[in-house]
Amino acid sequence: MNRKEFFARVGFGAASLLVPACISGLATSCSSDEGSVPTAPTGVDFTLDISSGALATDKGYLVKNGIIIARENASTFLAVSAACTHEGTTVNYVGSSNSFHCPNHGANYSSTGTHLNGPGSANLKQYNVTLTGNTLRIYS
Ligand code: FES
Repeated sequence: MNRKEFFARVGFGAASLLVPACISGLATSCSSDEGSVPTAPTGVDFTLDISSGALATDKGYLVKNGIIIARENASTFLAVSAACTHEGTTVNYVGSSNSFHCPNHGANYSSTGTHLNGPGSANLKQYNVTLTGNTLRIYS
């Protein structure tokens, strides 16, 4: 057996081992890059005190109950589902562009949760917010 024949046989042998694994879903390297879309929280209704903590200053944000809540400015707050619609990584709020960004593979969403670009295609779910004094209500 010459060198060319050896590599042809070894290469074919490795491929014959991997193909069944890919078909049965055992090899993670064979998986699709489109993950399952996480389910956004439903039946949401809770309040936050914004007099201190992350929401006390413009561009601050936090994650609670699967929802990312961000303070655009003193009178505008945003609330969308926190799990990226690609593979579920928690998104960040980017104050400089007033948008949400997934640090895992780079998906970007508008301030209302609309998918702008990057992996995945579904939007983040937007929730209602009402500010009364220092109490911010987040609800669906
Ligand atoms: S998990 Fe892949 S872009 Fe968010």
